[in-house]
Parts: sequence; C-alpha cells; structure tokens
Amino acid sequence: MRVLSGMQPSGALHLGNYFGSMKPNLELSAKADESLFFIVDLHALTSVQDPSLLRQYRCDALVDYLAAGFDPQKTILCYQSDVPAHAELAWILSTVTPMGLLERAVSYKEKVEKGIAASAGLFTYPVLMAADILLYDANVVPVGKDQKQHLEMTRDIAIKFNNAYGDTLTVPEALIREDVAVVPGIDGQKMSKSYGNTIPIFGDESAIKKAIMGIKTDSKGATDSKDPGTCIVYQLHKLFLSVAEQKALAEEYRNGISYGDAKKKLFGTYMDVFGAMRRKRSEFENNPTFVEEVVRDGAKRASAYAGKTMERVRKAVGLL
Ligand code: ADP
Ligand code: TRP
Repeated sequence: MRVLSGMQPSGALHLGNYFGSMKPNLELSAKADESLFFIVDLHALTSVQDPSLLRQYRCDALVDYLAAGFDPQKTILCYQSDVPAHAELAWILSTVTPMGLLERAVSYKEKVEKGIAASAGLFTYPVLMAADILLYDANVVPVGKDQKQHLEMTRDIAIKFNNAYGDTLTVPEALIREDVAVVPGIDGQKMSKSYGNTIPIFGDESAIKKAIMGIKTDSKGATDSKDPGTCIVYQLHKLFLSVAEQKALAEEYRNGISYGDAKKKLFGTYMDVFGAMRRKRSEFENNPTFVEEVVRDGAKRASAYAGKTMERVRKAVGLL
C-alpha cells in the first residue's frame, strides 16, 4: 500500500485539521508500506499571495508535521514545489481534462463565494492535485469528505489519460473518512481558518487558553444540568477521550459542572495531549539544519520516483 496525502500551508493548524486530517494521516502512514506527505505550496498560491507569509506558512507546516510525529525516515515529507514534475504533469493532464469536469467542482464555487479570486489556477486546482497523486502511483489517498469530489476527478482524469494513451497511470482509491465528525469551532460553526473560530495546536499558550475560555455556551447557571449533546465544550473535549472517558465526562455535565470548570478541564486535557508535541516542536524549531535536511532528502526521494513516472508519461504522449 502506497499512501499519499497533502495539506495546503495556508495558516496555523487547528484542532479541526488535527482530528480531521493530521491524526488519521499519521495513523495510516504508520501502517503503510510506503507513504508520502506533501506540503502543497503551489496550491496555496491560489489563496496566499504574500511571499513572506507563504514562506512562513510552508516552514511552519513542515515543523508542525515533524512535531506531530511524522517520521521522515518512513514518510517522504516534502514541499510540492521542490519537485517541478508536479507542475509539468498537471499541464499534460489538463490537456485530457474536460472543461465540464472542472466546471462541476463544488470546492471552486465555494472558494469564490468566500472571496478567493477566481483565477485560472484556482479553477485548475483539481488537475494539480491529480498530478500530485498520479505521479507516485499512490493507491490510497486519505482525505476528508470535503475532498471526495477532487479524488473522483483524479480518478476520472487518470482513466481519460489511460484511454487516450494506453495504460500508464495508476487509478487511485480514495479513503474518505466519513466517520470523522466535523470539528466545531469556538462559535459552533465548522472550525476553519477562514471563520476565525479556531483553537490552534501550536503557538502561544495564553492564546490557546483564551480561545478555549471563549467557547460559546448557553446561559445555564453554574450548577444547572448541562446537555453534553449540544454543548460545544463537550463536543471538543470528547475528541480527546476514549469511549469510557466520554461517558464519565458526559455524566459530569449532566450533574451540573460549571462552564468555567468544564473549559478549564478541556484546557488541561489539551495540554496533556499536545504538551509533548508542543515541546518537540520547539526542539525542531531550534534545529533548522535538521528540518532543511528533511525536505531536501524528501525532495530527492520524491523526484527520483516522479522522474520515472514522467518518463512513462512523456513516452506515452510522444514527448520522448
Ligand atoms: P480550513 O477550513 O481551516 O482552511 P483546510 O481546508 O486547509 O482547513 O483543511 C485541511 C484539511 O483538514 C481538510 O481537508 C479537512 O479534512 C481537515 N479539516 C479542516 N477543518 C476541519 C474541521 N473543522 N473538522 C474536521 N476536519 C477538518
Ligand atoms: N486539496 C487538498 C486540500 O485542500 C490538499 C491536497 C493537494 C491534497 N494535493 C493533494 C490532498 C493530494 C491529498 C492528496 O485539503
């Protein structure tokens, strides 16, 4: 099994990213024969157009993933733009991609509605994503529900290419994590960088405490019984707990824990779970030589693989 995934470096990682993407990716990479993880900086250019910010986000994402436990010996960790074959294959794939396929992309429409500029790059985003995946013959691509359509498009593009030029590309299987609930933000909407409602994983401890203490609650009194089913504090806290622990905590809510105490408890759990990761992150931050070596080595290993695929593709289309 060759597992591949990617994440845009477009802002500080939050609990939604961790439980929805990072944690399941880590668990699957540990089980895979081979795994690759890309920080998709070319994709991020569709929304981040401040060079110093992009530089910062890229680097932060890499350190975040190392701190979270991605083992660079086992998983190829790399910046997408360090392997130029991604852009080259994306161009070749775009010549077999029907306009109608891209026009049906929901994510494009949603992003434009959110205010992201409707560039040609944003429109062809799924083709670059297909190139990321098809370059490495990845057979398993773990993504959240929001990426399901992009994965289907990757499969369609690979099939189109193979129909036109003969069997060249491996058609991947999506591993859609339907079971991972949408992590709510501190205001109860989906947690997202673009809604300003996140609890970050890394960064200043006091900012994290402030975010947790600011989680929206109803006006129930301190000793009133609380409904764990509708309480955002509980919904966030339970992500960290085993089923038995969830049950015990739900009981405390029903027995009337105050929201202030419930939030303090959540902060305690947060620190227990992320404390070690946060300390590890500081170590990596203080060792930029090691971090640079990781991506340099990742790019070398990824390029070697991508080179072989490109040779196959160039031969197939008549560019060799
Ligand atoms: P954001 O909405 O903050 O910009 P991204 O779109 O960059 O986050 O998300 C990267 C990945 O993290 C997504 O593919 C998705 O699987 C996961 N993710 C993001 N937010 C959440 C959330 N609130 N709940 C569950 N998973 C999430
Ligand atoms: N489009 C994905 C997202 O927004 C990121 C991504 C780019 C990706 N290339 C990929 C995910 C390849 C999996 C595989 O979350």
